[in-house]
Order: sequence, then structure tokens, then C-alpha cells
Amino acid sequence: MDTFGKSLPRKDALDKVTGRAKYIDDYTRSDLLWGATVRSSETHAEILSIDTAEALKSDGVAGIFTSKDIPGKNIVPLVLPDYPFLADKLVKFRGQPIALVVAKSWKQARKAASLVKIKYKKLPAVYDAREALKKDAPKIYGEDNIFKKFVVKKGDADETLKKCDVVVSGSYSVNYQVHAYLETQGMLAELTDQGITVYGSMQCPFYVLNAVADILNFPHHKVRIIQSTTGGAFGGKEDVPSIVAGHAALLAYLTRRPVKIIYEREEDFISMSKRHPGYADITYGATRDGKILAAKVRYILDGGAFSTLSPIVLWRGTMHAAGPYDIPNVDVEACAVATNRVPCGAYRGFGQPQINFANESLIDELAEKLNIDPLELRRKNALTSESLTITSQKVGPSCGLTETMEKAAAEIKWHEKKQKKSPAAKPHIKRGVGMASSIYGVCLGAAGKHMAKAGAYVQINQDGSVTVAVGNTDMGQGARTVLAQIASEALGAPYELVDVIEPDTSRVPDSGPTVASRTTVMSGNAIANACRRIRRERIDPVVRELAGAGGTDAEVSTSGGYYLSNGKKFLYKDVITKCWQKRINLSSEGWWLEEGTSFNPENGLGDAYIVYSFSTTAAEVEVNTLTGEVRVIKLVGAHDIGSAVNPQLAEGQIQGGALQGMGYGIMENLVVKDGVMLNPNFSGYTIPTSMDIPEEGIIPIIVEKKFPDGPFGAKGLGEPPLISVAPAIANAIYDATGVRIRHLPILPEKITDALKSDDETRVRPRR
Ligand code: MOS
Repeated sequence: MDTFGKSLPRKDALDKVTGRAKYIDDYTRSDLLWGATVRSSETHAEILSIDTAEALKSDGVAGIFTSKDIPGKNIVPLVLPDYPFLADKLVKFRGQPIALVVAKSWKQARKAASLVKIKYKKLPAVYDAREALKKDAPKIYGEDNIFKKFVVKKGDADETLKKCDVVVSGSYSVNYQVHAYLETQGMLAELTDQGITVYGSMQCPFYVLNAVADILNFPHHKVRIIQSTTGGAFGGKEDVPSIVAGHAALLAYLTRRPVKIIYEREEDFISMSKRHPGYADITYGATRDGKILAAKVRYILDGGAFSTLSPIVLWRGTMHAAGPYDIPNVDVEACAVATNRVPCGAYRGFGQPQINFANESLIDELAEKLNIDPLELRRKNALTSESLTITSQKVGPSCGLTETMEKAAAEIKWHEKKQKKSPAAKPHIKRGVGMASSIYGVCLGAAGKHMAKAGAYVQINQDGSVTVAVGNTDMGQGARTVLAQIASEALGAPYELVDVIEPDTSRVPDSGPTVASRTTVMSGNAIANACRRIRRERIDPVVRELAGAGGTDAEVSTSGGYYLSNGKKFLYKDVITKCWQKRINLSSEGWWLEEGTSFNPENGLGDAYIVYSFSTTAAEVEVNTLTGEVRVIKLVGAHDIGSAVNPQLAEGQIQGGALQGMGYGIMENLVVKDGVMLNPNFSGYTIPTSMDIPEEGIIPIIVEKKFPDGPFGAKGLGEPPLISVAPAIANAIYDATGVRIRHLPILPEKITDALKSDDETRVRPRR
């Protein structure tokens, strides 16, 4: 293969490093106005009045608008219809949008927004998901504050647990995680002669299209959404850009002027989606020799004030709540709950990192109770091609889980370090190693069936260059590059001649969202389909004719910019010129669907996903037992991704995800008191930087168990690199110190507190 599987340079690299790339705040118009959002200062209240008199007199103000000015529907279109673009009578979280100001400058708009006076009548509020489930809790959503519930019932977990030789239980919790994309949310909307066009930072142009059409009551063909270069997303630009775009579009529509909205960091923190806080109670039962027979899981997600993506985040979490193991009896009950806190949504892993932390911590607790090495226990129970998942789905051929365990263990020198601890500099410094594994259902799966499609449009131009249009976006993860590689490989066109244009909803049909590690598989397959048609039906016959093999079905292959047939070779560009002379159509659309998934809501069983990616993280840490400080010395991420389109990009994904997972595990701590964020900025909310990269590195390992239905065997990689990092570090901390921290993030004070405690559930009895 010429381009597939090669570490070719990123298509966006040069523009980004030279500063030429245009992010949304680089877009301007001569008659531009700026929008700013007036937000609730209350966590749960009735709005009694909105006084705009003083704000309207403020410099540069062109208008102030409320829900009454919305010509269309005042509901952000998503799963459940509960979240208004602008609050009408009620606010349910601090930071909820109530009104919009439009002015000549960004500063003037913000100044005026601060002058809008709102009178509230406070209502009783609830800030803890477990409190919200109680009968007498204030009602935030429906009768019971439950957005959604899912179960998985396979075999009989309760009966089996009674008969198991060894049973372990644990309660775990996790805090929020903030996406911390470098570029805050932003959109520019302008009316055109044909309707409205919105440009902006986003993952899901078709969600934004629905939102803009709904708020303005425009037919879809009057709405065009174009993604600008996007400075990071990680799930944080999946659903919430619909709100920002809806607001910008409303202001553009009402003022007949182009309007830009750019969030400031603090505003982005308090109002945009977060990774859900969660709670899990888990019990595992096993035989004396370490075969896990039963898992019982109770899982709660704090969805915040509106449902947004919580139902599907919960579904994904539920479908993975027994980890990457073959466990015959499973009983999972999971629910997403409403509270008067910021609405939570998509974040790399989508409901899995939370439950994986609990699952993989308890696996180590089970290993200890069985007196079996944690690697051995994992291997013994690991899913293989032949085994059945939590939902009784046969895993299928693409399964390299055991290999990821073995390779990660070898790289961290597992056996050596388990036998004998690495020497540490001082007696109060302790070293340890830990590991954790995960399974990840690639693409949307059974619950997202209605959106599980993707389109592409491929066009070879007269000079041989290739224009590719897809409905999925590059938000920094490298889609533009890997999709260009797939097109290049399938067409036999030199990579330099192929590029993927900016996603534009007018160029391709709705291709679903850019989420769920689905882009390489979905858009990749759609592109490959389009290219195959262009090759088989149009280019290949011309090559045969040139080779004197016309009329036969002689094979046509490609290599290094040439087409080969009948023992002869022809330069790609010459063949394209020939095709143009013959007036052959060198463009085609492609389409791809996820097929064969199923889900029974009664018991959660079925074929949840089309394929799974597998991974194992190994960590070595050093813990200062006086200060509780954890230094991660080395991280290893071993990932079965089917086949790597661009190995260097894949390694970058693994390294970036691992660092983000390390932040989730031991650094990032959003403090929210009574629904009020106390550290909504980067001075108070600390994320890892390049200075925090483990001194022995983040070592990526790629395992390739080809996915027969993927483009050239590829499956998804976007999210898995983060998922199992926090539990691997938690397990390493335990190995180093004998302290088991069951609540993320693992801050230094939690370790020192536990070291001082005699509570045997927190500290390993000293031996
Ligand atoms: Mo992703 S967390 O599925 O946007």
C-alpha cells in the first residue's frame, strides 16, 4: 500500500504552526455585530422580571432579546425536549442563558449584558444526584428527577454471587472533568440571499443545522453550516455549539447584520457541558482460581439541570459496565439524574471512563483477595474473539485485548517490578506499578441507529487533484489527514493531490455526529465506496484500454503514483487526462451504514456495537508519602485499533489521551459548592501541560487485529486512549503505598489522609 499505514504529514500542520489557519475568532465582516449572553445568577428560580432599560442605554448596544423574540422553537433539539435556547419563566442552573445582547464590540456587548437586571423568586434546589433521587427532593425533571434508566440483566448475578468462593464490593465516585479545549466556543452567523450561513467551532454541523433551523423556523435548505478550523473539542463541541449557533443565528436574523459570539473562558466553564460526575457500587464474585462468574453494578450519573446527551452517555456507560471481561452473570442498573448544576454531556469516553475507574479498581481488589497477580486475573477473564460481551454479543475476529495486556505489561516490566520495587531516592518515596484495561464500542451502536450513517463526495479535478467532502469534522484529531490517506489509497492518487475540504452541510448529506470514535470507520468507508465506484466503473477500464487489455477483466493495481495492468504502467496524471478527454465522470458520492446492531431495553441484551476497540494502560508512579504528591514516571498505552491509517497520528492520539486521562486521575478538580463553580478558570483548575509528561514518557503501542468491515481494516481510536488511565494510576498508587483511593481525582490530601487512617477499607493492612 502506498499511503495507508504510512506516517504522512498532517494536512493542517503547516497552516496551524504558521498561524495561517483561521479559527472562528479570525473571521470578520465590515458590518459585524457582537453577541453576549445574559446568564442566570441563580441555581433554581422563577424569573419575575427582566429589566433592560439601563443596558439599552449602554454604549454601542444594538438590541437586547429574550425568549419572546424567538420566531421558531425555543428548545435545543437533541434527545429529550427540555433545554430552552433562552430561559422563559424558570432557570435551573447558574449560568443558564436568559437573554442576548448585541452591540458594536465584544466589550460593549459584555458591559451591557452585565447591566440587565433580573428579578428572581428562589426555588428549593438539589445539588447531589443521590439526594435528587430521594422522594422529597425538589423536582428538577419529571416526577423523579430521572432523565433515563438502563439495565443489563444476563444470567442470575444474585444467585451466582451466593455460590462464589470470593466476593468483593466497592463504592467509587468521580468528579467532573472540563474539556479545556484551547479555543472557547464561538460562532459567526450571517444572512445570505439564500438563507443563513453559520460558521464556527464545532464537532457536529448537522446538529447545529437542526438547531438553527428550529430556532428560526427555517426549512433546512435555507440553512448552511460550515465548520471553521476547530481548536480542540473532546466531546465538548458535540451538542453545546447548537446553543451558541442558535443564539448567533437569532441575533443575525433579528438585526439583519452578521453577528459573532465568542465565549470567554469563565463563561465557557460555567455554562458548557462537562464530563458527568458519577457514583458506582460494584460487586464481583469469582471462583478460588480466579474465574469471574458474576458482576453487579449500580451506576448513577449526575446529568445536571437539562438532559442534553445524558441518556446516550448513560447507555454507553451501561453497555460497558462489566469491563472487557467474559462474565456470564451480569446485573447492571444505571440512571442519569437531574440536579441544579451545569448540564453534563459528551467527553472523550462518553460515560465509560467513570465506570471503568470503578470496574478496574475493583478488579485489582479482587486480585488481591484471590492472591492472584492482577495481570493474570485480567488475562484469565479477558474477552476473546469467541467470547460474549456483557450484552451476549459475540466479540468477533477483531479482538486483540490479551495482546494489549501482554505488550503493556512487557513495556512497563510488570513481572520484574511486581517482584521487586524499583529503588526510590528517599525512604518516604514509594514506587509502584498498575494496569487497567478497557473495551470500547466503536461508532454509535444500537441506541444511535437512526443516525448511524455517513456520506462522502469525491471529485477528481482536471489537473488530477482530488476534492473530498465529508460530513464529519476534524477538531484536531487528524480526520482530514487520515481521510485523505484513505481516498488517496483507494484512488491510487498521490497523497499531495488529495485534500478534504472544510465540512459544509450543503456539500454532503447528514452524516450523523463526529463522535464515538466513528469518523475513520464511517467517513472512511463512505469515501472508500465513492472511490471504488470511480475506480471500477470509470478509471480501471481506461487503464485496461491503455494497456491493451480492453474488454477483459485484467487486474488494475496502483503503486507510487502509477496504475498497473497487463504488465504495463501509466502515470496517474496521464490516466486522469485520458479520462477527461473521454468526458468520463470522475466524481461520485459514497454512503455507509452501521448494520446489524440490536438492543432489547427489557434486559439490555443484543449486538450493541458493530465492533470494539481494546486497550490496556500500564503506569508506574512515585508517591511522596509525606506530601501525598504523585509523580507518574511512565505511562504505556497499548491499543488494538484494527489497523493504523497513520501510525504517527495514532501514537499522538494515544499520548494525548493518556495525558488527559492522567489529568482526570490525579490533577483536575472542579470545585462546585451549592451549584456554584468556585474555580472556573485555568488558574484554579489545573490540567496537565507538556511539563507534566512522565519522565520516562508515554509509550504508545499499536496492536492491529483487522476489522473486516473497516476501511482497510481500521476501527476507532479517538476515545480509548483516555479511558483506562485513571484506574491504572490508582492501581499503581495502591501498589506503591497500600492506599486505595476510590474517589477521583486522587489529590495529595486524599493520600495523606488515608495513610493516617486505620480504616482497613482504605489502607492495606500493614504486613
Ligand atoms: Mo464524543 S465524547 O463521542 O463527542
